[in-house]
Amino acid sequence: MEERMISGELQGAEEEIELSLRPETLNQYIGQDKAKENLSIFIQAAKMREEPLDHSLLYGPPGLGKTTLASIIANEMGVQFRTTSGPAIERAGDLAAILSSLEPGDVLFIDEIHRLPRSVEEILYPAMEDFCLDIVVGSGPSARSVRLDLPPFTLVGATTRAGLLSAPLRDRFGVHCRLDYYDTAALRSIVERTADIFHVGIDHEAAVEVARRSRGTPRIANRLLKRVRDIVQVRGEDTITIPTTQTALKMLQVDDEGLDHIDHKLLVAIIDQFRGGPVGLDTLAATVGEESQTIEDVYEPFLLQRGFIQRTPRGRVVTPKAYEHFNREVPGS
Ligand code: ADE
Repeated sequence: MEERMISGELQGAEEEIELSLRPETLNQYIGQDKAKENLSIFIQAAKMREEPLDHSLLYGPPGLGKTTLASIIANEMGVQFRTTSGPAIERAGDLAAILSSLEPGDVLFIDEIHRLPRSVEEILYPAMEDFCLDIVVGSGPSARSVRLDLPPFTLVGATTRAGLLSAPLRDRFGVHCRLDYYDTAALRSIVERTADIFHVGIDHEAAVEVARRSRGTPRIANRLLKRVRDIVQVRGEDTITIPTTQTALKMLQVDDEGLDHIDHKLLVAIIDQFRGGPVGLDTLAATVGEESQTIEDVYEPFLLQRGFIQRTPRGRVVTPKAYEHFNREVPGS
């Protein structure tokens, strides 16, 4: 019992750190310039009309700041931010309870919205379109449908890929916002901002090094930075330098291109066990012992973007760049 309480407290502390790293306004939010520029206009316009912002869909790989952006939308609109997630809502009644507790203008954030059960999704349609709930009371011959009015609100949905959503749900979002991997310059600013919040110095080159090796992802950049900070602290230093950064990244098995040991496992499996591919996703997943979904959402998009693999109709293949990365001879060369 006591142990559970303590670990609960530790979790709380971690969460608090995450929260304190989160920018609160669009101006503080680094990168994703296109998304910011669009949202800024839509938010201003909605405020001028004194209406809630249109329902907004944020999509892109994990760790790029979809939740952060949603909370910024609420903050910029000056309304409450309520959050839940697709898998957390099991029954229509769960969603009905959340919707009927909203106050006018609130932002309701549903993370992993592609994982909402179909039965729940259906009560979301009238809620999004007409701000009302159609609920069935009673059962059998005496069952009837009652319509409850809801306050106007903004649904912000997040998903790793817009294509995972059913078409009717996707079509009910007026704003579609794609988040892309961050470039090194943006990540470097995020790393420097985080170091500042941690009250630890960081050399420019070290910030660039962390940024370069973070798979274009702020969540990873901040996580790597925390581990580098640990080393600096234990060594009694006060500034993060290139050598410490390199030591930390080596310890964490992050290579020069930012690939981790799972990326390595995936690429090496395709090269060695499938002669470079093509190999189907599920076969690959079984071979390396990871979930297909995780490979598809987390690992593959980055490996595709950096040109280590390609998708073909018959499965995934590695590129010459992947062979070169592992100092292997490119077949047929
Ligand atoms: N921390 C995580 N993501 C961020 C971002 N996009 N801007 C500023 N700080 C961040």
